[in-house]
Amino acid sequence: MALLPILRYPDPRLHKKAAPVETVDENIRKLVADMAETMYEAPGIGLAATQVDVHKRVIVIDVSEDKSKLLAFVNPEILECAGEQVCEEGCLSVPGIYEKVTRSERIRVRALDLQGQAFTLEAEGLLAVCIQHEIDHLDGKVFVEHLSKLKQGRIKARLAKQARITA
Ligand code: NI
Repeated sequence: MALLPILRYPDPRLHKKAAPVETVDENIRKLVADMAETMYEAPGIGLAATQVDVHKRVIVIDVSEDKSKLLAFVNPEILECAGEQVCEEGCLSVPGIYEKVTRSERIRVRALDLQGQAFTLEAEGLLAVCIQHEIDHLDGKVFVEHLSKLKQGRIKARLAKQARITA
């Protein structure tokens, strides 16, 4: 396994749309293992392949307290959504920024597992937020793009300043 570098907003590569995976093979399983290691090390609760500059529809998530419930989704698709919730979100690609975003409260998602088998999952609360956030990444959307243009401008300025300080 290997740690992968995480792209930082506003890197234009975060806005690429990821392509569906045609075959779930050893390369995809290795990608998932590397993404999981990268997510746990960061630490974070979710990571999309887009964030490590791999533009394939793959996400990993673990919202459990003891980091024991890794979920991997290949070609995830939201089939149904209901309700609304507001949650303060952060993102490994937007370090230090936490903002409230409105999303669906409950979702039903379909994806392929690491054997290439289709499964569906019903999720609510934090897991539902996380899945929606990660699927957004695959579509080239970073969570701050749910905010006003004014807030997005402030966040870009703050991150540019941080990058100068740490460079
Ligand atoms: Ni994110």
